[in-house]
Amino acid sequence: MRAPIVPATLLLLVFALELDATRRKQKEKVVHTTINICDISDRDSKVHCYCEFSQDFNEAVKTECWVFNGGIEKSDNLWSSFTSQSNIENLAFNVRADGGLNFVPSNVLLYLKKLRSFSIKYSSIVNIESYSFANLTNVQDITLTKNQIVNVERHTFYNLPNLTVLTLDENKITRLVSETFYELPSLHKLYLTSNNISVIEDGTFRHLVNLLELELDRNNINELKKECFDGLANLKRLDLRRNKLTVLKSFTFTELWNLQELLLDYNEIHALAQRTFDGLSLLKKLSLSHNKLIALISGLFEGVRGLSALDLRHNKLKRFTYDNVKPIYDNLKNQKSYIYLEGNDFDCDCHLAWMHKLRHEARSIKVRTSLENFVCKFNIDPAMNSHLTYYEKTIIDTNNIFIDEKPPDKEYKDTDDLQDDIDEEFIEEPKVIKKENERTLLQIPVELLPCPAAVKSVTDRTYTYPSQNEAKDYRNLILTSKSNKFDISLVTFCFNLIFLNKLLTF
Ligand SMILES: *[C@@H]1O[C@H](CO)[C@@H](O)[C@H](O)[C@H]1NC(C)=O
Ligand SMILES: *[C@@H]1O[C@H](CO)[C@@H](O)[C@H](O)[C@H]1NC(C)=O
Ligand SMILES: *[C@@H]1O[C@H](CO)[C@@H](O)[C@H](O)[C@H]1NC(C)=O
Repeated sequence: MRAPIVPATLLLLVFALELDATRRKQKEKVVHTTINICDISDRDSKVHCYCEFSQDFNEAVKTECWVFNGGIEKSDNLWSSFTSQSNIENLAFNVRADGGLNFVPSNVLLYLKKLRSFSIKYSSIVNIESYSFANLTNVQDITLTKNQIVNVERHTFYNLPNLTVLTLDENKITRLVSETFYELPSLHKLYLTSNNISVIEDGTFRHLVNLLELELDRNNINELKKECFDGLANLKRLDLRRNKLTVLKSFTFTELWNLQELLLDYNEIHALAQRTFDGLSLLKKLSLSHNKLIALISGLFEGVRGLSALDLRHNKLKRFTYDNVKPIYDNLKNQKSYIYLEGNDFDCDCHLAWMHKLRHEARSIKVRTSLENFVCKFNIDPAMNSHLTYYEKTIIDTNNIFIDEKPPDKEYKDTDDLQDDIDEEFIEEPKVIKKENERTLLQIPVELLPCPAAVKSVTDRTYTYPSQNEAKDYRNLILTSKSNKFDISLVTFCFNLIFLNKLLTF
């Protein structure tokens, strides 16, 4: 009975021993070949990684690594341990120690053939060498925000066929050199916000034919060279806010023939050449608020006939003439348009007469509201008293009503109708706080807007003002304006003044 039992026990025993041996072999193999970077047991390791989903060999997909303890050298063996997780798609380095990482671990990138997204934050990387990011066929997204990067060399980003978004925000990059970005056919978004860029070399973006969005805001750019945007034929949005731009030359943006949105707010722009925006035939939105513009050349918007959203707030503009607005006037009537002009130094004069007309033609609430709230300065130049006696008296008289709510002076009984009008509207809009000499333009009937001597533009010597065409346009404008009854003889008088002044200036 016992005999058959013995071989069975032996078999079991042999089986158990064999199992143990294979286990031991597996364990030995692991210890001898590589460290699993998702499972670093050494407490003194300079790098620790947290792997989502699984920590087993080659199973991690998303990995975040912290760099501690005095930093890690380029030659450290740990870098080769990244071969333990060859399926990582998402890899982020967070540096938690000063000087913890001062180079791009390019080798790691080469081991990780499936890498799609890569990021380094808070490192002390100052220089990024050529080819640091090269030949990574699957990478779609590289983020290098909040490092100390000053120099990015030519061909740093080289042959990345699937790179779509590249973010270099919050570094200290001083200069963009030509061909830094090379063979990046899928790059759609390039973010360089909050750096210290003052120079953009010609040809920097030459190979980014498919770029849609470029952010260069919060930098130190004081000049845009003629060819700095070469190659960006598909760019739709360019953000240059909060730089140090002072003058924009003709044809600066001419290569950007698909651009829809151009943001230039918070610069120091005081001069725009007549053909600055030429070539931007698809531009819809132009934003120039918080600059130092005093005057605009009349043909400025000739090259941007699609423009329907314009922000010129907080400049020093004295005029915005019908010649200025004419190329885009019809667009401003559309539902979604806007034009923002507050915070300037506009004089209440006949050059703003178009606002009355546009107020009645605009379908956009934004356009109507901004025109209704538009205030300008009623400054009477004593030098022009002889030409403007009639207007002056009328105006000063209505001024008194605005400020002091005095009863109308008997001497000017003939302007009673006007005073009633203004009084009514004044009561309707008590919230707008105006300075002593400021008036709401739309409350001043068109025919009472003075047409003072033209001030020559400070920004362009070729600028003559107003042109004969412009004068004709005013006349047509006022004649076709349905909303206001007026005295034609006053208008004629107004234009006679323009021509008289023109004659006097020759
Ligand atoms: C990238 O690939 C090209 C061609 O495949 C090769 O010549 C070049 O040496 C590679 N560069 C790097 C940095 O891997
Ligand atoms: C990367 O681009 C190549 C073509 O250049 C394409 O075959 C491949 O599928 C892309 N990979 C990803 C992840 O999109
Ligand atoms: C920015 O760059 C200029 C040189 O162009 C340098 O003098 C300045 O210190 C830099 N600023 C910062 C904050 O790095």
